[in-house]
Amino acid sequence: MSVTLRRATLADIDALLELEALFPGDQMSRRSLRAFIANPRADFLVAEIRGELLGNLLLLSRAGRRSARIYSVIVDPASRGLGIAQELVTAAEAAARQRRCTTVTLEVRADNAAARGLYRKLGYITDHHLPAYYDDGADGLRLSHDLHADPEPADG
Ligand SMILES: CC(C)(COP(=O)(O)OP(=O)(O)OC[C@H]1O[C@@H](n2cnc3c(N)ncnc32)[C@H](O)[C@@H]1OP(=O)(O)O)[C@@H](O)C(=O)NCCC(=O)NCCS
Repeated sequence: MSVTLRRATLADIDALLELEALFPGDQMSRRSLRAFIANPRADFLVAEIRGELLGNLLLLSRAGRRSARIYSVIVDPASRGLGIAQELVTAAEAAARQRRCTTVTLEVRADNAAARGLYRKLGYITDHHLPAYYDDGADGLRLSHDLHADPEPADG
């Protein structure tokens, strides 16, 4: 099944809100989605299959910083296990390289086996344990990936 990745646009907001609603916790509001789509320091990527928006990833970077942060990644539950998140993270890392970042970081719940499996497969390591990091008291982990550790992509 062929997955298409592209940047999010304002026309995606309703579909993005539906995806966000599937992942209770830090849900993004319409207003914050709009702001991230317009933010020049954000790479807001969406994944589609046959025109249906099934996943999204938000990468944030800061001027002058060599580290970018994956703020959010969600895949529609019915479409998990197809490699969509892996494609999104790989594309986000390419975007981070284009911004001259050398590291990608993120925080993940320690009990999120799917996300931890995803990032482990892609070479992320645990930098810090974050006890009681989340509002419900759950522990977090800060993960990072050194982009230098990977071979350069063929197109630089
Ligand atoms: C985490 C999430 C984004 C993964 O999306 P996905 O598209 O199903 O993941 P992929 O199909 O790209 O999987 C890539 C790899 O991740 C790992 N993985 C994915 N789901 C997994 C699971 N349930 N358990 C363990 N490892 C898993 C596997 O290594 C997999 O590679 P493989 O298929 O070769 O074994 C998805 O489960 C999701 O949206 N969860 C809710 C939101 C969330 O937790 N976001 C992360 C917050 S940090």
